[in-house]
Amino acid sequence: MTGGPGPAVPSTLIRGSVVSMARSVALSVFVLAGAGLLFTLVASATLVVDAVRVSSPHGYLLALAAAIIGLVLWLCLIPLVLMAIRPLANAVRLLSGTWCGVPCCEPYRAAEPGRQLRSRLRWLLTDPATWRDLLWTALNIVLGAFLLIVPAVVTGVGLIAFIGSRVTKAIPPPAYPGNSSPSILVAGVALTVAGLAVAPKFLSGYGVFSGWLLNSSSSRELARRVRHLTRTRKETIDAGAAEVRRIERDLHDGAQARLVAMGMTLDAAGQLVHDNPQAAHALLEQARENSIQALKELRDLVRGIHPPVLADRGLADAVRALALDTPLSTHVICDLAARPPAPVESAAYFAVSELLANVAKHAHASQAWVDIRYADGMLKISVTDDGRGGADPARGTGLLGIERRLAAFDAVLAVSSPPGGPTGATLELPCELGTAGHPAK
Ligand SMILES: Nc1ncnc2c1ncn2[C@@H]1O[C@H](COP(=O)(O)OP(=O)(O)OP(=O)(O)O)[C@@H](O)[C@H]1O
Ligand SMILES: [Mg+2]
Repeated sequence: MTGGPGPAVPSTLIRGSVVSMARSVALSVFVLAGAGLLFTLVASATLVVDAVRVSSPHGYLLALAAAIIGLVLWLCLIPLVLMAIRPLANAVRLLSGTWCGVPCCEPYRAAEPGRQLRSRLRWLLTDPATWRDLLWTALNIVLGAFLLIVPAVVTGVGLIAFIGSRVTKAIPPPAYPGNSSPSILVAGVALTVAGLAVAPKFLSGYGVFSGWLLNSSSSRELARRVRHLTRTRKETIDAGAAEVRRIERDLHDGAQARLVAMGMTLDAAGQLVHDNPQAAHALLEQARENSIQALKELRDLVRGIHPPVLADRGLADAVRALALDTPLSTHVICDLAARPPAPVESAAYFAVSELLANVAKHAHASQAWVDIRYADGMLKISVTDDGRGGADPARGTGLLGIERRLAAFDAVLAVSSPPGGPTGATLELPCELGTAGHPAK
């Protein structure tokens, strides 16, 4: 028996948790620094109030002077604190990507030209990112500290107060009702494991919290777009590769096999043509059959890659041809002034094809309707049937395949199919229309 990779997995997990915990503790330094800066602001405001209170018994004017001087000094302190928060926030932005998996970009406006104090103050105080930094610093003291410190505290208590008290007499056993040796050990192990287990999750949670406040809304949108594009690019590449494999297999098993058989049949016919013309004739018939079959398979394959009717006549006619092939009464309404881009047409065509195939296979419907229109920069297609309902993407690959294909176009599929029916599927594909009769580029 071999040891296998078993022990490596827990040790990797433990190492990952310990690393997360160390990172959390390192990040909590920024929480402390932020708390220190906010404390400076609050403490100086208290000092101003105290100064007014102490000077008021000595005269109204003295109190007023103390209030004005204190307030001016306090107001001068605010930009200094806001400027000091920036490096802290920037350090967390930098670490958030590598440590917490949430990349943050610097959201500050570019500094205005000119070194005048007024313009620099305006630049600082009118930037929304400055105030989001301040909010982050304040929330960091509560939420950030909770997410960063709790796992380390729980693990520390488990290891030192509980397990440690069983190892050395220097640590007194924790006092609680029923604190027997085994229960202390079990509680210690449970606390240590719980702290280690939550450390990576809490660190990611801290990344989400910080990213939410420290990223500008446009960077957040950009990050979301990048994630979406990365996912859809991978799915599109995978789908393309799978399609190429399918075509290769279909050609190999279908038309290629028939053409090989045809060649062999023609060979045999050539050898028999003088001695047994009748048998040669029969073989030639067989070769002709094979060629017809090979041609049909090639046509079907071409239809599966890009139906000629779609390329020549556009989406409306291609969907009408699909409707004619569907074994139930299917009504097509199309209101398109011009043709969408060819890739959009193709994605829409194959989506409708799968939806109509589903109606025929699963719906027990008597009729189906396809409605195609273009409005507000969207190609909108709905496929409805009067069947029994119950369409569920989780139960097959067809509806999920449509979603994946559409995601590459930023398009969406919405399915409504309550038990008892009816079923309605709606596709919305953002696109431009071309000139009449020609697909858009
Ligand atoms: N129009 C419909 N009416 C009723 N049920 C439907 C309809 N369309 C889909 N379904 C249900 O939803 C399930 C998922 O459909 P989906 O197209 O994803 O997979 P499938 O058709 O079963 O298999 P395939 O992967 O070959 O497409 C189906 O198995 C079927 O039970
Ligand atoms: Mg299906």
